Amino acid sequence: MRVGIAGLGTVGRGVVKILETHRDMIAERAGRPIEVVAVSARSRTIDRGISLDPYRWHDNCLDLADAEDIDLVIELIGGSDGIAKELVERAIENGKSVVTANKAMIAHHGVALAERAEAQGVGLKFEAAVAGGIPIIKSVAEGLCANRCEEVYGILNGTCNYILTEMEKTGRDFESVLADAQRLGYAEADPSFDVDGIDTAHKIAILASICFGTRLNFDAVTVSGIRRIAPVDIRYARELGYVIKLLGSATMENGMLDQRVAACMVDRGYSLATVDDAYNAIVFRGDFVEDSFYEGRGAGEGPTASSVVADLIDIARGNITPAFGTPANRLKEVPVAPQDALEASFYVRFYVHDEPGVLASISESLRDEEISIESLIQHGDPEDEQIYVVLTTHETCERRLLRALDKLKGLKSLVEPPLYLRIVSIREDDD
Ligand SMILES: NC(=O)c1ccc[n+]([C@@H]2O[C@H](COP(=O)([O-])OP(=O)(O)OC[C@H]3O[C@@H](n4cnc5c(N)ncnc54)[C@H](OP(=O)(O)O)[C@@H]3O)[C@@H](O)[C@H]2O)c1
Repeated sequence: MRVGIAGLGTVGRGVVKILETHRDMIAERAGRPIEVVAVSARSRTIDRGISLDPYRWHDNCLDLADAEDIDLVIELIGGSDGIAKELVERAIENGKSVVTANKAMIAHHGVALAERAEAQGVGLKFEAAVAGGIPIIKSVAEGLCANRCEEVYGILNGTCNYILTEMEKTGRDFESVLADAQRLGYAEADPSFDVDGIDTAHKIAILASICFGTRLNFDAVTVSGIRRIAPVDIRYARELGYVIKLLGSATMENGMLDQRVAACMVDRGYSLATVDDAYNAIVFRGDFVEDSFYEGRGAGEGPTASSVVADLIDIARGNITPAFGTPANRLKEVPVAPQDALEASFYVRFYVHDEPGVLASISESLRDEEISIESLIQHGDPEDEQIYVVLTTHETCERRLLRALDKLKGLKSLVEPPLYLRIVSIREDDD
């Protein structure tokens, strides 16, 4: 199988290295050799730590889609639109299979691209787009396809998990840990895609489509990130027996799909709570298999390239399955669950002026919405003028909590808007 690679950055370099290192082993496993014929990137002169001499160079990556001696195009440029999408569309139209790691493009255009690929009878695979080195797409689309999925959720962004883990270990605040992560290359110069939850939203939208057989609906994901998590939340989380993690989750209830990205308080006894640093983890709950847990490196040269090459081998073997598990034109349109209908227990943090009556106002507002408080903590020095009041609720509907917090908006004692996080506990039937 003759391939062309567009993009020779972190992932592209890794793909070349694996194909060179394991040339013979891959040929045996794929049933035929996989040969890189041509490559393309922006600059021909950058030292990438690999020799490009054996490969034909194209200044214009679209040439890879047109080249007669290329069977498959690997797109590793990135970006939801623009040249990456143009390249993939052109390759498919020209009857070539495509492998990509581009979660932004798949989240926005994946179904349309899959429809074209399926009409053309070519493969479109994107294992590396979700959770880097964890073969989660193959697992849910193939290994778990006998199940009706009830829920899928996990830690899908290594940068956020690294930042939260560092905040937990060192007690430092978000901004200073982020600055370090940028210096170390764990976070981009513009970190918003990661820390504001958009990258996780891309991945959970892709997973939801595969798990539930539904048309990918990225716009319906409710997204928030980790910027508001403060050292005080980390301390209270520890005191209450939780760890804060940014989770992407998708649930199907009453025929409605709920997709969300939010920082959550995860029970310390839960396997997800021990997934630290840049690692990713995913829980798939199916009606027959029950809970299935996956953990591994979610990004980086080796892990991401490992998934790209696995896709290549699959296609070389002739394993051209529908990109989303279900044929793209049979993916179902389903209603979106109301954003505030979630039933859960919550952690709520208030920052208030230490004045008489504050606690009474907070508990009154919650009582009016029939929310019962499970625990209430208020530490502080009698000298402090402003203090944190933290409480956890018993299970309630998010809508009720939002109404209660809304009523407190006018409270003069509030220094800043309250922060609330969903609590994710081990289910009673889990151990
Ligand atoms: N990095 C990860 O850990 C990771 C994990 C999962 C998924 N992904 C996805 O994998 C894709 C690639 O990520 P990456 O980290 O490898 O990105 P990267 O290091 O920024 O590399 C991007 C590559 O694309 C090339 N490029 C840019 N514009 C081009 C154009 N018009 N024509 C041809 N080549 C062009 C660049 O060329 P120059 O080198 O000459 O500038 C560079 O080699 C993205 O979709 C990303 O979301 C990455």
